[in-house]
Amino acid sequence: MSTAVCRDGEADHGWNAQDYASNARFVADLAMPVVEQLAARPGERVLDLGCGDGVLSQAIAARGADVLGVDASAELVAAARERGIDAIVADGHELAECSQIPGRFNAVFSNAALHWMKQDPQAVIDGVYQRLLPGGRFVGEFGAAGNVAPVHDALRQQAQAQGLDADAIDPWYFPTDAQYRERLEQAGFTVETLFSFERPTLLPGDVSGWIATLAGPFVAAFAPGSARTDYIASVRERLIDSLRDAQGRWTVPYVRLRFDARRAAA
Ligand code: BEZ
Repeated sequence: MSTAVCRDGEADHGWNAQDYASNARFVADLAMPVVEQLAARPGERVLDLGCGDGVLSQAIAARGADVLGVDASAELVAAARERGIDAIVADGHELAECSQIPGRFNAVFSNAALHWMKQDPQAVIDGVYQRLLPGGRFVGEFGAAGNVAPVHDALRQQAQAQGLDADAIDPWYFPTDAQYRERLEQAGFTVETLFSFERPTLLPGDVSGWIATLAGPFVAAFAPGSARTDYIASVRERLIDSLRDAQGRWTVPYVRLRFDARRAAA
């Protein structure tokens, strides 16, 4: 392991902690089964990769584990620290090199974060492997192939319709089970479980709040002000017939990929 300083926050996707709490609290609420799967034990060192505002780090710490949160967003790391979580700003692609992350861990946990690490998913997995102690586990959940597909398609199509290159701004990596299994095994992991499943999710409000909060890189491709609000309104218009029900409630078809992988014992 080298000792390079981390590339702080280069992959910050424009998070706002307040908006996140209002429009995306369900992300952590629905992730408790992943925390259960991790089954952290008292005294274990756990790295929470993509810790966000630290709600799940707290749930893991409540089991007696010593948790370090890592996130590319300085704003979300500040929110995690306010919850009393030890957290640092770092790029998930540079786990192995980051000198601010001390030592190795019994487990690396990640919820709803790995799909944001699109630049080089193999480098992320390799870094996790290097940060684990022998016998350590990597337990996580993120977006699988087909995740939020109607929203994803509408974001891309509207951007293309307005003359932008959707491939260039699309921030998400949503692999199939086979693709992610292959990457884990290539890093040296033994895959204990890996599967994807549909999880239609009722939003706490309008889909425009989801877009503004969770699709930052698409929205940021437009000039601040009316260009952004017009883009969000146009994407919303594309989705009304398929995702909004007669009572005005919005449901987004999430697809999750959940896994539990182990580093060899010695
Ligand atoms: C997800 O958790 O699946 C997700 C979150 C934000 C944007 C896209 C997908």
